[in-house]
Amino acid sequence: MSTAHSPLVVRGAIRAPGDKSISHRALIFAAMASGPTRIRDILASADVHATAGALRAMGADIPALSADFVVHGRGIASLHSPESALDCGNSGTTTRLIAGLVAGLAGRAARFEGDASLSRRPMRRIAAPLAEMGARIDFEGADGHDGLPMRVHGMPLSAITYVNTHASAQVKGALMLAGLASGAGVTVLEPQRSRDHTERMLTARGVHLTVSDEGVVLPPAQVLTAVDVVVPSDPSSATFFAALAALADEGVLRLDNVCLNPTRTGAFDVLRRMGARLDIEEARTIGGEAIGTLVVFPAMLHATSIGGSEIPSCIDELPMLACVAARAVGETRITDAGELRVKESDRIRAVVENLRRLGVEVEELPDGMRIVGSQAALSGHVVTHGDHRLAMAFGILGALPGNRITIDDPGCVSVSYPTFWRDLAQAMGPASERAEPTAPRASAAEPLVIAIDGPAASGKSSTAQWVAQLLNVHHVDSGAFYRAMTLLAIGTGVPPEQWSPAEVLAQAHRITWRLTERSVLPLVDGSVQDEAMRDAPVTRQVSRVAQMAAVRHWVNDQVRAAGAATDVVVDGRDIGTAVFPFAALKVFLVADPWERARRRLIQRLERRPNDAEIAEETEALVARDGLDAAQSAPARDAITIDTTTVTQEEQVERIVALAKATRDRLRAL
Ligand code: S3P
Repeated sequence: MSTAHSPLVVRGAIRAPGDKSISHRALIFAAMASGPTRIRDILASADVHATAGALRAMGADIPALSADFVVHGRGIASLHSPESALDCGNSGTTTRLIAGLVAGLAGRAARFEGDASLSRRPMRRIAAPLAEMGARIDFEGADGHDGLPMRVHGMPLSAITYVNTHASAQVKGALMLAGLASGAGVTVLEPQRSRDHTERMLTARGVHLTVSDEGVVLPPAQVLTAVDVVVPSDPSSATFFAALAALADEGVLRLDNVCLNPTRTGAFDVLRRMGARLDIEEARTIGGEAIGTLVVFPAMLHATSIGGSEIPSCIDELPMLACVAARAVGETRITDAGELRVKESDRIRAVVENLRRLGVEVEELPDGMRIVGSQAALSGHVVTHGDHRLAMAFGILGALPGNRITIDDPGCVSVSYPTFWRDLAQAMGPASERAEPTAPRASAAEPLVIAIDGPAASGKSSTAQWVAQLLNVHHVDSGAFYRAMTLLAIGTGVPPEQWSPAEVLAQAHRITWRLTERSVLPLVDGSVQDEAMRDAPVTRQVSRVAQMAAVRHWVNDQVRAAGAATDVVVDGRDIGTAVFPFAALKVFLVADPWERARRRLIQRLERRPNDAEIAEETEALVARDGLDAAQSAPARDAITIDTTTVTQEEQVERIVALAKATRDRLRAL
């Protein structure tokens, strides 16, 4: 608990998105079964999209992921070789499970590719036992590299009894999928139990399995029936908020609908051991999985030891637990967790280096780390290596009063928890109520948001860019998000006149964003598409897309997420009212219509316009102001700057001075 600053009060309820492990498997089993599988509440994150994309490429009929959809499975035999390489993005689970499936499909083959992080991850752990069963796996990277790119050739397989040296649900799942696809019997023995979603979901689908503490036995020649899935919330995602609540000063936070499968709840046990109070309410069983509401209260936390057989049940949560340990009284040791080195990043090295950068006393161990807790304010810049769980763990640490932490790539949360930053802002309560009654709206714990609004041609965008540069914070260009959406809508081949908001939004999952040095940059399918986004076809259609209320809503959510993750300057319509009602500084730029028309024409014509041209443009602008009146009203607490007679340089100077004063005031809190 921290006391030197305005207290952190948690409140309300968070429903973390669907469980990642169950979501992958729900899609894979639906594609393998014959008949319809209705899937509700799936996690629509980048990793799960990778699995959906891989299955589609193999002929499965997987619709766009939404809260409720049906997969019409056509049986294992209907799956064919993909025409091009399967792009597994950042997802180890996609790679390993689908590789197991392909290995068991005699005559089929697939090439697996991934991003830089995934390509570094070891695949021999599945390749060796799959090869032992009779499949052929070729590593196509540098000599001796057992990662992606990798080609898997399906073969008729023989039975295997595989004794794994470490607990891995991905390895176990890959072998069971190979067994199911080929009809071969599979036995996997593990030193500790890994997560058992595969076993539970297969049993529910009529597959006969024997499960014991030693492992699992899948007899040969099994058939899978289609069974509907309701995906519970991911306990790994809920852990971030359990940690936030345990570390808060006051309040209580409810975490709804959390999967409480005992192979997944190790982090909750560790938090309890550290002194946290986590109650379970509304315990129930759905689809063979225990589910409940976790009710978490702030507490004084003390150090603990985490190791041995409990590691598999909290492996993904260890970065968060390490950050919690940094705020607990005493010295925490994490051991037996060497697996962390081959996750989305080397999570031992990365957590240790980042904690050290923030001022925490920490020691790297070969299979874990030693962390000395303290109450000192932590400040510094976190390097995530694109690892979602690092971004979120340090995001929670950064939300604690007194800490000042920036994160290099907050957008990488899209791998498993796309709405993380929004949920974090929500759990901390409205900023207006967060600080002391006498304090200003925003608190120092949250990023600074400077909202710049104004009517058409008021120069919002160029001013915002310039201000962001001078303040050395990120500029969010909401227009770029509309352009990215438009580019994807054009890509569907549907004529623009026929675009519906639902169709346009169906592509939204392909847009993520990342922070560059200066800006928040939307990515399309993971890459920068700046040129295509500025192209004439996009420019012609972007206003059509920007007028769709549902799309505006989505873009506003992205912009809010960026603003919750890092200091930003944002410009655009309704930014200070609808999007960031609690922005620390709101500026509304106005200028006489004649002057705005003149500036706009200079930009467009690249010469001085004559009076007749300005008069015509002025009329158009006044008409546009009339149409925009509802959107362009200044927020009540906005500072209006009339720029008619000032140069842009002067106007930027004024805003920067206001922003610096705001920042100093917040820091003094
Ligand atoms: C997963 C298994 C675990 C876990 C990963 C998801 C799964 O990996 O870390 O996030 O869904 O099977 P390992 O099997 O490598 O332990």
